[in-house]
Amino acid sequence: MRSLQLTLAILKPDVSAQPHIVREIKKLLLTNGFYFVKSKDLYLPRKKAAEFYKEHEGRFFHNRLVSFMSSGGISAHILARDNAIQEWRKLMGPTKVFQTVHSQPDSIRGQFGLTDTRNSTHGSDSVESAQKEMHFFFPEFNVDQWFKENEPFFRSGNVFYCKEKGIHVEVEKDLKQELS
Ligand code: RTP
Ligand code: MG
Repeated sequence: MRSLQLTLAILKPDVSAQPHIVREIKKLLLTNGFYFVKSKDLYLPRKKAAEFYKEHEGRFFHNRLVSFMSSGGISAHILARDNAIQEWRKLMGPTKVFQTVHSQPDSIRGQFGLTDTRNSTHGSDSVESAQKEMHFFFPEFNVDQWFKENEPFFRSGNVFYCKEKGIHVEVEKDLKQELS
């Protein structure tokens, strides 16, 4: 089996304010074979939101988007899976909610999106942007080290989802902690 891929997911303020939707999205990710490698709840200050969406500077929706992203809590997640970038974007559905509710009603945006801006989730669109975005939210996370030391455990399924931590934990690491 080829190596897993990492991507960055964000649950935006519209869904983060609705715990039952957050639970639903996490359940969807788990049943679709995604691993939660890192997770954090945070508030993105306006300046940081503008930095995150720098590539869209000058577009008509930029200001609206930055205001929205700093309007409430969000959560950021590093996800792992085979073909994670594309598969997470497939689960999310297309950006434009007003169309997606008709074209892909079962996708996350189709079910939970409110508008083209308040569209529930974010997913990296390439390996390069995933690297950049993971570093943006988790500067302490070392991608190369993860692939060397942790990826084999995830790929072989030697991990379990720890509800308390909201991430997957390696079975052996957990055993060691229990025994120490
Ligand atoms: P994302 O980056 O959030 O995963 O979504 P995406 O690639 O499908 O969309 P992108 O073109 O990168 O746009 C980033 C976010 O900007 C907001 N947007 N609003 N009102 C509008 O027409 C409009 N267009 C884009 C959305 O929140 C989109 O996710
Ligand atoms: Mg994008």
